[in-house]
Amino acid sequence: MNACPPKRSEGWELDEFNLPWAGDNSINQRNSMITISTGGNLSHTHFHSPVINHYFCRNFYKNILNMRKKIAAGNWKMNLTLSEGKQLISDILNGLEADPPKQDANELLVIFGTPFITLKDAADQVDGNNQVLIAAQNCYSEESGAYTGETSVEMIKSTGATCVIIGHSERREYFKESYEMLAKKVDLTLKHSLTPIFCCGEKLEVREDGEHFNLIKEQIESSLFHLDAADFGKVIIAYEPVWAIGTGVTASPEQAQEMHKFIRKTIAAKYGKPVSGECSILYGGSVNAKTATELFDQNDVDGGLVGGASLKAGDFVSIINSF
Ligand code: PGA
Repeated sequence: MNACPPKRSEGWELDEFNLPWAGDNSINQRNSMITISTGGNLSHTHFHSPVINHYFCRNFYKNILNMRKKIAAGNWKMNLTLSEGKQLISDILNGLEADPPKQDANELLVIFGTPFITLKDAADQVDGNNQVLIAAQNCYSEESGAYTGETSVEMIKSTGATCVIIGHSERREYFKESYEMLAKKVDLTLKHSLTPIFCCGEKLEVREDGEHFNLIKEQIESSLFHLDAADFGKVIIAYEPVWAIGTGVTASPEQAQEMHKFIRKTIAAKYGKPVSGECSILYGGSVNAKTATELFDQNDVDGGLVGGASLKAGDFVSIINSF
Protein backbone atom coordinates (compact mmCIF):
# COMPACT_ATOMS: atom_id res chain seq x y z
CA MET A 1 0.00 0.00 0.00
CA ASN A 2 1.29 3.45 -0.82
CA ALA A 3 2.88 5.14 2.16
CA CYS A 4 2.04 8.65 1.19
CA PRO A 5 -0.67 10.26 -0.87
CA PRO A 6 0.20 10.09 -4.54
CA LYS A 7 0.10 13.26 -6.57
CA ARG A 8 -3.20 13.79 -8.25
CA SER A 9 -1.64 13.44 -11.67
CA GLU A 10 -0.47 9.98 -10.73
CA GLY A 11 -4.07 8.89 -10.75
CA TRP A 12 -6.56 7.75 -8.24
CA GLU A 13 -7.97 4.39 -9.10
CA LEU A 14 -8.43 2.12 -6.13
CA ASP A 15 -6.32 -0.57 -7.72
CA GLU A 16 -3.32 1.75 -7.66
CA PHE A 17 -3.34 1.15 -3.93
CA ASN A 18 -2.92 -2.54 -4.66
CA LEU A 19 -6.13 -3.29 -2.90
CA PRO A 20 -7.14 -6.50 -4.60
CA TRP A 21 -10.59 -6.34 -3.12
CA ALA A 22 -11.32 -2.78 -4.06
CA GLY A 23 -14.57 -2.54 -5.92
CA ASP A 24 -16.40 0.54 -6.96
CA ASN A 25 -19.81 -0.16 -5.57
CA SER A 26 -19.81 2.35 -2.81
CA ILE A 27 -17.55 4.30 -0.58
CA ASN A 28 -18.71 6.14 2.48
CA GLN A 29 -16.60 8.54 4.38
CA ARG A 30 -17.69 9.42 7.86
CA ASN A 31 -15.57 11.20 10.41
CA SER A 32 -12.09 9.80 10.13
CA MET A 33 -13.20 6.42 8.91
CA ILE A 34 -13.72 5.16 5.43
CA THR A 35 -15.92 2.24 4.57
CA ILE A 36 -15.52 0.64 1.21
CA SER A 37 -18.19 -1.70 0.05
CA THR A 38 -16.94 -4.09 -2.57
CA GLY A 39 -20.25 -5.81 -3.01
CA GLY A 40 -18.55 -9.02 -1.93
CA ASN A 41 -17.60 -10.64 1.33
CA LEU A 42 -14.69 -8.27 1.84
CA SER A 43 -16.97 -5.25 2.11
CA HIS A 44 -16.71 -2.81 4.94
CA THR A 45 -13.02 -2.40 5.40
CA HIS A 46 -12.18 0.50 7.64
CA PHE A 47 -9.19 2.81 7.56
CA HIS A 48 -8.27 5.24 10.24
CA SER A 49 -5.07 6.42 8.60
CA PRO A 50 -5.28 10.15 7.98
CA VAL A 51 -3.11 9.67 4.91
CA ILE A 52 -5.46 7.20 3.34
CA ASN A 53 -8.37 9.20 4.59
CA HIS A 54 -7.08 12.35 2.97
CA TYR A 55 -6.48 10.52 -0.26
CA PHE A 56 -9.87 8.91 -0.42
CA CYS A 57 -11.70 12.04 0.69
CA ARG A 58 -10.17 14.07 -2.07
CA ASN A 59 -10.75 11.53 -4.74
CA PHE A 60 -14.09 10.43 -3.44
CA TYR A 61 -15.43 13.71 -4.73
CA LYS A 62 -13.13 13.90 -7.69
CA ASN A 63 -14.09 10.86 -9.63
CA ILE A 64 -14.53 7.39 -8.37
CA LEU A 65 -18.18 7.53 -7.69
CA ASN A 66 -21.27 8.47 -9.43
CA MET A 67 -23.68 10.22 -7.19
CA ARG A 68 -26.19 12.82 -8.19
CA LYS A 69 -24.84 16.25 -7.47
CA LYS A 70 -25.62 19.86 -8.11
CA ILE A 71 -23.17 20.95 -10.75
CA ALA A 72 -22.25 24.31 -12.23
CA ALA A 73 -19.96 23.60 -15.17
CA GLY A 74 -18.38 26.28 -17.32
CA ASN A 75 -17.62 25.60 -20.95
CA TRP A 76 -15.15 28.27 -21.99
CA LYS A 77 -15.05 27.06 -25.60
CA MET A 78 -12.22 28.65 -27.63
CA ASN A 79 -11.87 31.66 -25.37
CA LEU A 80 -9.23 33.04 -23.01
CA THR A 81 -5.46 32.81 -23.14
CA LEU A 82 -3.58 30.95 -20.43
CA SER A 83 -3.12 34.04 -18.27
CA GLU A 84 -6.71 35.19 -18.81
CA GLY A 85 -7.97 31.73 -17.85
CA LYS A 86 -5.91 31.62 -14.67
CA GLN A 87 -7.15 35.08 -13.76
CA LEU A 88 -10.77 34.04 -14.30
CA ILE A 89 -10.39 31.00 -12.06
CA SER A 90 -8.80 33.01 -9.30
CA ASP A 91 -11.50 35.69 -9.59
CA ILE A 92 -14.21 33.02 -9.33
CA LEU A 93 -12.55 31.29 -6.38
CA ASN A 94 -12.19 34.66 -4.63
CA GLY A 95 -15.81 35.44 -5.45
CA LEU A 96 -16.89 32.15 -3.87
CA GLU A 97 -14.86 32.88 -0.77
CA ALA A 98 -16.56 36.24 -0.40
CA ASP A 99 -19.99 34.79 -1.20
CA PRO A 100 -19.89 31.09 -0.26
CA PRO A 101 -22.41 28.67 -1.78
CA LYS A 102 -25.27 27.71 0.50
CA GLN A 103 -25.06 24.10 -0.61
CA ASP A 104 -23.41 21.47 1.48
CA ALA A 105 -19.86 20.89 0.22
CA ASN A 106 -20.67 17.24 -0.57
CA GLU A 107 -23.57 18.23 -2.77
CA LEU A 108 -22.10 20.86 -5.04
CA LEU A 109 -19.48 20.62 -7.75
CA VAL A 110 -18.02 23.42 -9.83
CA ILE A 111 -16.34 22.45 -13.08
CA PHE A 112 -14.19 24.60 -15.34
CA GLY A 113 -14.16 23.32 -18.93
CA THR A 114 -11.05 25.03 -20.21
CA PRO A 115 -9.07 24.88 -23.46
CA PHE A 116 -6.34 22.23 -23.48
CA ILE A 117 -3.57 24.77 -22.96
CA THR A 118 -5.07 25.83 -19.64
CA LEU A 119 -5.82 22.40 -18.16
CA LYS A 120 -2.60 21.86 -16.21
CA ASP A 121 -2.46 25.33 -14.67
CA ALA A 122 -6.16 25.23 -13.88
CA ALA A 123 -5.84 21.80 -12.23
CA ASP A 124 -2.93 23.09 -10.13
CA GLN A 125 -4.96 26.14 -9.14
CA VAL A 126 -7.82 24.05 -7.77
CA ASP A 127 -5.77 21.16 -6.38
CA GLY A 128 -6.89 20.37 -2.85
CA ASN A 129 -10.34 21.88 -3.41
CA ASN A 130 -12.76 18.95 -3.44
CA GLN A 131 -15.56 20.97 -4.91
CA VAL A 132 -13.82 22.18 -8.03
CA LEU A 133 -12.90 20.00 -11.00
CA ILE A 134 -11.29 20.69 -14.34
CA ALA A 135 -12.69 19.39 -17.64
CA ALA A 136 -11.27 19.20 -21.12
CA GLN A 137 -13.74 20.17 -23.86
CA ASN A 138 -12.88 17.25 -26.10
CA CYS A 139 -10.52 14.31 -26.49
CA TYR A 140 -9.53 12.10 -29.38
CA SER A 141 -11.16 8.75 -30.02
CA GLU A 142 -7.90 6.76 -30.17
CA GLU A 143 -5.42 5.97 -27.41
CA SER A 144 -2.30 7.47 -29.01
CA GLY A 145 -0.30 7.57 -32.21
CA ALA A 146 -0.11 9.38 -35.51
CA TYR A 147 -3.02 11.80 -35.11
CA THR A 148 -1.34 15.16 -35.55
CA GLY A 149 -2.91 17.89 -33.51
CA GLU A 150 -5.13 15.64 -31.40
CA THR A 151 -5.12 15.17 -27.63
CA SER A 152 -5.59 11.81 -25.95
CA VAL A 153 -7.46 11.03 -22.76
CA GLU A 154 -4.23 9.94 -21.11
CA MET A 155 -2.68 13.31 -21.93
CA ILE A 156 -5.69 15.06 -20.44
CA LYS A 157 -5.45 12.92 -17.34
CA SER A 158 -1.76 13.76 -16.95
CA THR A 159 -2.66 17.44 -16.50
CA GLY A 160 -4.79 16.71 -13.45
CA ALA A 161 -8.08 17.34 -15.27
CA THR A 162 -10.72 14.80 -14.27
CA CYS A 163 -13.60 15.32 -16.72
CA VAL A 164 -14.04 15.47 -20.49
CA ILE A 165 -16.92 17.16 -22.30
CA ILE A 166 -17.95 14.80 -25.12
CA GLY A 167 -20.36 15.34 -27.99
CA HIS A 168 -20.96 19.07 -27.68
CA SER A 169 -23.21 20.17 -30.55
CA GLU A 170 -20.40 22.33 -31.92
CA ARG A 171 -18.22 19.19 -32.20
CA ARG A 172 -21.07 17.26 -33.81
CA GLU A 173 -21.82 20.08 -36.25
CA TYR A 174 -18.41 21.53 -37.22
CA PHE A 175 -16.26 18.42 -36.79
CA LYS A 176 -18.83 15.87 -37.91
CA GLU A 177 -18.42 13.70 -34.84
CA SER A 178 -20.51 10.59 -35.27
CA TYR A 179 -22.40 8.55 -32.68
CA GLU A 180 -19.78 5.84 -33.07
CA MET A 181 -16.87 8.21 -32.54
CA LEU A 182 -18.51 9.67 -29.46
CA ALA A 183 -19.04 6.17 -28.06
CA LYS A 184 -15.31 5.52 -28.48
CA LYS A 185 -14.47 8.78 -26.71
CA VAL A 186 -16.78 7.86 -23.85
CA ASP A 187 -15.14 4.42 -23.59
CA LEU A 188 -11.62 5.85 -23.52
CA THR A 189 -12.58 8.47 -20.97
CA LEU A 190 -14.02 5.83 -18.66
CA LYS A 191 -11.13 3.45 -19.31
CA HIS A 192 -8.79 6.11 -17.95
CA SER A 193 -11.13 6.83 -15.06
CA LEU A 194 -12.13 10.31 -16.12
CA THR A 195 -15.72 11.50 -16.05
CA PRO A 196 -17.47 12.04 -19.39
CA ILE A 197 -19.85 14.99 -19.56
CA PHE A 198 -21.93 13.76 -22.46
CA CYS A 199 -23.87 16.42 -24.40
CA CYS A 200 -27.05 15.87 -26.35
CA GLY A 201 -29.49 18.32 -27.89
CA GLU A 202 -31.74 19.00 -30.85
CA LYS A 203 -31.79 21.72 -33.48
CA LEU A 204 -34.81 24.00 -33.74
CA GLU A 205 -36.22 22.28 -36.81
CA VAL A 206 -36.18 18.94 -35.04
CA ARG A 207 -38.17 20.41 -32.16
CA GLU A 208 -40.56 22.06 -34.57
CA ASP A 209 -41.11 18.68 -36.23
CA GLY A 210 -41.88 17.20 -32.83
CA GLU A 211 -38.93 14.81 -33.13
CA HIS A 212 -36.87 16.15 -30.21
CA PHE A 213 -37.61 13.31 -27.79
CA ASN A 214 -36.79 10.68 -30.41
CA LEU A 215 -33.54 12.40 -31.33
CA ILE A 216 -32.32 12.79 -27.74
CA LYS A 217 -33.14 9.13 -27.10
CA GLU A 218 -31.21 8.16 -30.22
CA GLN A 219 -28.18 10.29 -29.24
CA ILE A 220 -28.05 8.77 -25.77
CA GLU A 221 -28.74 5.20 -26.90
CA SER A 222 -26.22 5.29 -29.72
CA SER A 223 -23.25 6.60 -27.78
CA LEU A 224 -23.93 5.51 -24.19
CA PHE A 225 -26.21 2.48 -23.99
CA HIS A 226 -23.46 0.00 -24.81
CA LEU A 227 -22.06 0.74 -21.32
CA ASP A 228 -22.81 -1.53 -18.40
CA ALA A 229 -24.70 0.00 -15.49
CA ALA A 230 -21.57 0.63 -13.41
CA ASP A 231 -19.92 2.61 -16.20
CA PHE A 232 -23.09 4.38 -17.21
CA GLY A 233 -23.38 5.56 -13.63
CA LYS A 234 -20.12 7.49 -14.00
CA VAL A 235 -21.43 9.63 -16.86
CA ILE A 236 -22.78 13.16 -16.43
CA ILE A 237 -25.34 14.14 -19.08
CA ALA A 238 -25.83 17.67 -20.39
CA TYR A 239 -29.00 18.42 -22.35
CA GLU A 240 -28.23 21.39 -24.56
CA PRO A 241 -30.87 22.33 -27.13
CA VAL A 242 -28.90 23.72 -30.06
CA TRP A 243 -31.41 26.53 -30.56
CA ALA A 244 -30.58 27.83 -27.09
CA ILE A 245 -26.79 27.69 -27.31
CA GLY A 246 -25.23 31.12 -27.58
CA THR A 247 -28.51 32.61 -28.80
CA GLY A 248 -29.71 34.28 -25.62
CA VAL A 249 -32.86 32.16 -25.89
CA THR A 250 -32.96 29.92 -22.84
CA ALA A 251 -35.30 26.93 -22.80
CA SER A 252 -38.11 27.61 -20.38
CA PRO A 253 -37.83 25.80 -17.04
CA GLU A 254 -40.81 23.68 -18.15
CA GLN A 255 -39.13 22.72 -21.45
CA ALA A 256 -35.93 21.81 -19.61
CA GLN A 257 -37.77 19.80 -16.96
CA GLU A 258 -39.84 17.98 -19.58
CA MET A 259 -36.74 16.83 -21.46
CA HIS A 260 -34.71 16.01 -18.34
CA LYS A 261 -37.59 13.90 -17.03
CA PHE A 262 -37.73 12.13 -20.38
CA ILE A 263 -33.96 11.48 -20.29
CA ARG A 264 -34.22 10.07 -16.78
CA LYS A 265 -37.11 7.84 -17.88
CA THR A 266 -35.09 6.64 -20.88
CA ILE A 267 -32.18 5.77 -18.59
CA ALA A 268 -34.50 4.03 -16.11
CA ALA A 269 -35.94 1.85 -18.87
CA LYS A 270 -32.46 0.60 -19.72
CA TYR A 271 -30.62 0.59 -16.38
CA GLY A 272 -33.35 0.81 -13.74
CA LYS A 273 -34.49 3.55 -11.43
CA PRO A 274 -31.57 3.53 -8.98
CA VAL A 275 -29.12 4.30 -11.80
CA SER A 276 -31.33 6.93 -13.42
CA GLY A 277 -32.07 8.50 -10.05
CA GLU A 278 -28.35 8.99 -9.39
CA CYS A 279 -27.50 10.42 -12.80
CA SER A 280 -26.62 14.12 -12.84
CA ILE A 281 -28.35 15.79 -15.79
CA LEU A 282 -27.31 19.35 -16.59
CA TYR A 283 -29.10 21.88 -18.75
CA GLY A 284 -27.11 24.05 -21.17
CA GLY A 285 -28.09 26.87 -23.50
CA SER A 286 -27.92 30.55 -22.59
CA VAL A 287 -27.96 29.88 -18.84
CA ASN A 288 -27.26 33.16 -17.06
CA ALA A 289 -27.42 34.63 -13.60
CA LYS A 290 -31.10 35.51 -14.11
CA THR A 291 -32.38 32.21 -15.54
CA ALA A 292 -30.29 29.79 -13.46
CA THR A 293 -32.40 29.80 -10.29
CA GLU A 294 -35.63 28.75 -11.95
CA LEU A 295 -33.92 26.19 -14.17
CA PHE A 296 -32.00 24.65 -11.28
CA ASP A 297 -35.20 24.51 -9.22
CA GLN A 298 -36.69 21.91 -11.58
CA ASN A 299 -36.83 18.38 -10.16
CA ASP A 300 -34.74 16.75 -12.85
CA VAL A 301 -32.33 19.60 -13.57
CA ASP A 302 -29.17 19.07 -11.57
CA GLY A 303 -27.30 22.12 -12.76
CA GLY A 304 -25.96 23.77 -15.85
CA LEU A 305 -23.32 23.62 -18.54
CA VAL A 306 -22.70 27.29 -19.10
CA GLY A 307 -20.90 28.90 -22.02
CA GLY A 308 -20.91 32.69 -22.31
CA ALA A 309 -21.84 33.45 -18.72
CA SER A 310 -19.04 31.24 -17.40
CA LEU A 311 -16.50 33.70 -18.81
CA LYS A 312 -17.53 36.44 -16.40
CA ALA A 313 -16.48 35.81 -12.80
CA GLY A 314 -19.40 37.66 -11.19
CA ASP A 315 -21.99 35.96 -13.39
CA PHE A 316 -20.58 32.49 -12.86
CA VAL A 317 -20.41 32.99 -9.08
CA SER A 318 -24.09 34.04 -9.18
CA ILE A 319 -24.92 30.94 -11.22
CA ILE A 320 -23.09 28.72 -8.75
CA ASN A 321 -25.01 30.40 -5.96
CA SER A 322 -28.34 29.90 -7.74
CA PHE A 323 -28.78 26.41 -6.27
P1 PGA B 1 -24.10 29.21 -23.84
O1 PGA B 1 -23.31 27.87 -24.20
O2 PGA B 1 -24.32 29.19 -22.36
O3 PGA B 1 -23.20 30.33 -24.28
O4 PGA B 1 -25.38 29.18 -24.59
C1 PGA B 1 -23.60 26.66 -23.58
C2 PGA B 1 -22.77 25.55 -24.17
O5 PGA B 1 -22.56 25.54 -25.40
O6 PGA B 1 -22.30 24.68 -23.46
